[in-house]
Amino acid sequence: MEASSSHHGLAILSIVLTSQIALTLAYPPFLNDRNIEYIKSSCSTTTYPKLCYRCLSVYASSINTSPKLLVHTALNVTLRASKATSRLMVKISRFHGLEPRVAAAMADCIEVIGDSVDELQQSLGELGHISSSNISLTMSDVQTWVSAALTDEDTCMDGFAGNNMNGYAKTMARKRIIKVAHLTSNALALINNYASSQGYYLP
Ligand SMILES: *[C@@H]1O[C@H](CO)[C@@H](O)[C@H](O)[C@H]1NC(C)=O
Ligand SMILES: *[C@@H]1O[C@H](CO)[C@@H](O)[C@H](O)[C@H]1NC(C)=O
Repeated sequence: MEASSSHHGLAILSIVLTSQIALTLAYPPFLNDRNIEYIKSSCSTTTYPKLCYRCLSVYASSINTSPKLLVHTALNVTLRASKATSRLMVKISRFHGLEPRVAAAMADCIEVIGDSVDELQQSLGELGHISSSNISLTMSDVQTWVSAALTDEDTCMDGFAGNNMNGYAKTMARKRIIKVAHLTSNALALINNYASSQGYYLP
């Protein structure tokens, strides 16, 4: 008897929860069309618009329609992904029995991804102190650093390019690095858009 009534309660609870989830999905209270449209149209200028939208639309309400917050958030997301990839590679590199060639590529990669994390961090630091008098200087620094980060990630991927290098470690690492490189490329496109909207173009 008791068990059945508690089952009953659970069933009701789960119906309530399910309908609430459905409502939330149908009418996300924090999503406003204009904010979402802004993310969509900004992302459409990037090379990987789906990835861009997937990563940034969750921040639509805080980005609002601010190009500065958009860039800042895109860099934040990229930095977080780079750090996670770096941690994963450190873990993988500690496995014993890694093919020496893979281990060497992994070690090189950990180093260059570390550089790319520094560059993204510097970009975020400078963006935080942007002022109307030095927008062009800041944007030029940020463009330089983010491009450098992208080069670092390409270098890292090249290290895994050999056909004779196969296996799980390589596949995992490559997949993550490609995602980070795509996020970085998108962030750079958004930065370039922001810079040109401020009247500053890449030389
Ligand atoms: C970026 O990340 C930092 C640290 O996690 C956070 O304090 C900041 O609010 C974030 N900025 C944006 C625009 O997302
Ligand atoms: C821009 O100006 C702000 C405020 O004066 C300063 O904190 C920041 O370091 C400057 N940025 C650059 C790139 O010079």
